[in-house]
Amino acid sequence: MIKVEPFYDKNTGTGSYVVYDDTSRAALIIDAVLNFDVASGRLEFALANQQLQFIEAQKLHLDYICETHAHADHLSAAAYLRQHSKARTVISQGIGEVQQQFSRRFNKPVTEDQTLLYDILVHDGDTLMLGKHTLTVMTTPGHTPDSVSYLIEGNIFVGDTLFMPDIGTARCDFPGGDAHQLYQSIQKIHALPDETRIWVCHDYPPPNRKVQLNTLVKTSRNENIHVNQSMSEADFVTLRTQRDATLNVPRLLYPALQVNLWGALLPEKEAGGQRFIKIPLIVDEDSYATQ
Ligand SMILES: [Fe+2]
Repeated sequence: MIKVEPFYDKNTGTGSYVVYDDTSRAALIIDAVLNFDVASGRLEFALANQQLQFIEAQKLHLDYICETHAHADHLSAAAYLRQHSKARTVISQGIGEVQQQFSRRFNKPVTEDQTLLYDILVHDGDTLMLGKHTLTVMTTPGHTPDSVSYLIEGNIFVGDTLFMPDIGTARCDFPGGDAHQLYQSIQKIHALPDETRIWVCHDYPPPNRKVQLNTLVKTSRNENIHVNQSMSEADFVTLRTQRDATLNVPRLLYPALQVNLWGALLPEKEAGGQRFIKIPLIVDEDSYATQ
């Protein structure tokens, strides 16, 4: 039987999951998180360590570390977990396109195939085995072009393709994001059996409720405030586009991308042994230059 142990990073509102087969003791982690304080630059491993301790206490063996997409709001602990286990990292083959887009932005020359920083690149319909249970990859682009969902034994891990019904959906205004695609991806998830459990990658609960990380397909289909049955694709795209125009850049955008796009590895140490994160400046160079 498949079991799910949720972990929650309060600082970024991120849900991360240990999924395991209680017979074979095979486990995988979905959307691992590093603890990061952007003001000081301090990186810690508390949440990932809690997951490793859970795995050890339950006598599990970690086989895979799966990403639903290259996140822009938290730093992935995938490389850290890989260094502390025999597990292999898994991400969509679409990561290559996202790497290309952001290589230019960060002035990071692509010298070789950097998708090789991940162990397994998945496509729609690909499967991984967790003991005797099959995990199936479903491509669900829209929030990002590389978004995938992982379906296993009546559970689907959707990343940012859906949020809890009272929160709705994630933004589609990152490079390669597309509200039409997101609507269609959500239709694929909502076509699953009613009792399929949806696990989200984020919850930002309103003051009147506690953090909740899962819901059912039938609940999402009926009650999601952005994509319920009475919402057409055109209505959704209008709503999503208007809303995206009001959103600020995510607080951890640049640190997150510079780690998450390249195997979740930290930037190389520079002379003196220090690692750095870059922030591309947006500045009117004509105004700045001396006349
Ligand atoms: Fe995301």
